[in-house]
Amino acid sequence: MIDGKKVLFSGMQATGNLTLGNYLGALKNWVTMSDEYECFYCVVDEHSITIRQDPAELRKRARALLTLYIAAGLDPEKNCIYYQSHVSGHAELAWILNCYTYMGELNRMTQFKDKSAKHADNINAGLFTYPVLMAADILLYQADVVPVGIDQMQHLEITRDIAQRFNSIYGDVFTIPEGYLGKVGAKIMSLQDPTKKMSKSDENPNASIYLMDDPDTIMRKFKRAVTDSEACVRYTDEQPGVKNLIDIYAACTGKLPTDIEHEFSGKGYGDFKEAVGESVVSVLKPVQDRVAQLSNDKSYIDQMIKKNAEKADYYATKTLRKVQHKIGFPDRIR
Ligand code: TYM
Repeated sequence: MIDGKKVLFSGMQATGNLTLGNYLGALKNWVTMSDEYECFYCVVDEHSITIRQDPAELRKRARALLTLYIAAGLDPEKNCIYYQSHVSGHAELAWILNCYTYMGELNRMTQFKDKSAKHADNINAGLFTYPVLMAADILLYQADVVPVGIDQMQHLEITRDIAQRFNSIYGDVFTIPEGYLGKVGAKIMSLQDPTKKMSKSDENPNASIYLMDDPDTIMRKFKRAVTDSEACVRYTDEQPGVKNLIDIYAACTGKLPTDIEHEFSGKGYGDFKEAVGESVVSVLKPVQDRVAQLSNDKSYIDQMIKKNAEKADYYATKTLRKVQHKIGFPDRIR
């Protein structure tokens, strides 16, 4: 609790181009939850280097992502929006938690299996201990709730396990966090292969809607989206392509899947895809316009970066000192 409010923590990697999946699965929920909680929204640049990055590009993307958080509607005066690398407590707590995490647990992580298959030439130790750094992110702020998409739920489970293990040895040190999944949009699928999640690392640009895609590109990608030969807009696992488009339309308009089935009953996929595309354009266009505006306001963003890093560091250090004392590190002399 901070000032009587429960704490929310979440983050995104500054890697690749953010997709509609990131927006509907996470960012959009962050905005609706931001009044109710004391929020920490992190640009997790330390996680990004588990895959080789171009330094100038990483710096640029991290800044663009932080700007995007604000453009999506998160007020940096109320929400703590900051870079992970600006708060040294993340890496320090991660080291400590590494010593309370088992190799067997990390071996079971599906993201590690996927990423090591994709980057077989660079299976580094950071990729393996990635979930421990994520646990440190969350536990440093004593977060109560962590809004994420479905693909991150396994990491949230291991975070809870590590926290519970630590608490069972040292007493109530960490708040045990709960994951939060949005009602719709928690798993947006690829537009070209609806059995796979929409991912920033997909090689086919038509598979993903990027948050900075212009309206024509968005409409074109939806027109090409893979559906089926049923010619019927139904919300069923047997029609994964159509189901995914219904999910996207539902998340963008707030309509229910059953109402969407009625809206398009007797209509072809052409009309349906156009409506889905338009709903996405109308959600993304205002965000894109605000990104353009904010990018011109360098000093405002810089000031927010400084102020929020100090705020995050204050809370992170508080938890870190408590942990260090509990495990037996010598206290600092004041
Ligand atoms: P990342 O950067 O891969 O994704 C950011 C958020 O977007 C969600 N997401 C999706 N949701 C629905 N459909 C999709 N197709 C889709 N693709 C991505 C993710 O679930 C995530 O919520 N390890 C994390 C970042 C992280 C983090 C944290 C998150 C680091 N520390 C602490 C929460 C708390 C990651 O790589 O997310």
